[in-house]
Amino acid sequence: MSETPIDSSKRTWLIASGCAGAVGGVATAVPFVSTFQPSEKAKAAGAAVEVDISGLKPGEKITVEWRGKPVWIVKRTPEQLAELPKLDSQLADPQSKRNPAELTPEYARNEWRSIKPEVLVAVGICSHLGCSPSDKFTPGAQPSLPDDWKGGFLCPCHGSTFDMAGRVFKNKPAPDNLEVPPHTYLSETKLLIGEDKTA
Ligand code: FES
Repeated sequence: MSETPIDSSKRTWLIASGCAGAVGGVATAVPFVSTFQPSEKAKAAGAAVEVDISGLKPGEKITVEWRGKPVWIVKRTPEQLAELPKLDSQLADPQSKRNPAELTPEYARNEWRSIKPEVLVAVGICSHLGCSPSDKFTPGAQPSLPDDWKGGFLCPCHGSTFDMAGRVFKNKPAPDNLEVPPHTYLSETKLLIGEDKTA
């Protein structure tokens, strides 16, 4: 998977967010693989984006751009998946029942919020005021997170936290889970972001 530098034109959602903390958030949002490589087709407004995830390893995340938004693709580890059901009582909307039409397609209304349990696809924009949350995949106590943190995402702007399925924790400024965009698999390792089904 070739690496492509993130240029400033791809950061419009940060500027739109009006949140200084978002810059730091995105800087750490791609710790393992830098994958801003939308196809020519995808550069057209609204076009779906094909993504090859064959090189994505457990615990890694890549970010692609779709409709000017950062879309995260995270391959969760078995340990991260195993924690998800245990977190339900701490979450504001564990079953993704709020605004399902906008936030969670039917095929992602499950414990993992995804088609394949191990692969999360989510728009990396906080449902509070639009900052981009930071990866906090390492469990355990650390600044701005609870001592029993199991891994997830922290929005640096006002402290909203999300689990590894993009589900927001209770009593945080963010009202909703992260959006799961329309997506489908073209093959075992090729995702199409932006369309539910192949035409
Ligand atoms: S924008 Fe994320 S907590 Fe406010």
